Amino acid sequence: MKGIILAGGTGSRLYPLTKVTNKHLLPVYDKPMIYYPLQTLTDAGIKDIMIVSGRGHAGHFLELLGSGVDIGVHLTYEIQEKAGGIAQALGLAEDFADNGAVTVILGDNIFQDNDQKAVETFKNGARIFLKEVPDAGRFGVAEIKGKNIISIEEKPAAPKSNLAVTGLYIYDARVFEIIRTLKPSGRGELEITDVNNEYIRLDEMDFSQLKGYWSDAGTFESLFRASELVRNIRSETQESE
Ligand code: G1P
Repeated sequence: MKGIILAGGTGSRLYPLTKVTNKHLLPVYDKPMIYYPLQTLTDAGIKDIMIVSGRGHAGHFLELLGSGVDIGVHLTYEIQEKAGGIAQALGLAEDFADNGAVTVILGDNIFQDNDQKAVETFKNGARIFLKEVPDAGRFGVAEIKGKNIISIEEKPAAPKSNLAVTGLYIYDARVFEIIRTLKPSGRGELEITDVNNEYIRLDEMDFSQLKGYWSDAGTFESLFRASELVRNIRSETQESE
């Protein structure tokens, strides 16, 4: 399985922190943000990884990570010329995916869970990971009926559940065909939620609920909280050792 980190966008919500460097290189406690999605992928046994970034300060990724040899992975880089949405950024990885399944992670998502099993047992369709949150309206929100997921709404004003769709997705190779059929949303972007709703419509969507902590880190508040979460977990693990 190959991995794709989507690290595009302009980071405008974090300005001026993002004036002279890329959002995904800002510190989350003691590491640059992108180290966390990289760790999530390597923990899942994924070593062949593409980073899709926007134009702004893209060279900083190369300076920080190079070929990936220092952290035991092989990195490939792609540039999203304009902020056209998460699904558009993913579409740029089609050749890299080479007709295989891919694990996709958003560059500003910090996970505690180890997802090796979910990756290893994946066969086809799509798989997403949900997390109960107090502020679901900030995210894609899943509507569940019995054991099935029946829809996802992107940033709904009245969320139908408190289950956020986190930025970790596993897709079979059909994802690239689906992306080609998408139309830009109200905010002018190709939405990953539209990709996921298409898998739901095809009855090919699987989901599980995360147990450990999860945070995004794309706003001042969530960036601050992500650092706190990592720090707390770090000290809990040290105490139990
Ligand atoms: C994106 C997705 C959203 C998802 C979130 C997770 O939102 O569109 O469905 O819940 O990532 O971090 P964004 O952070 O781009 O607003």
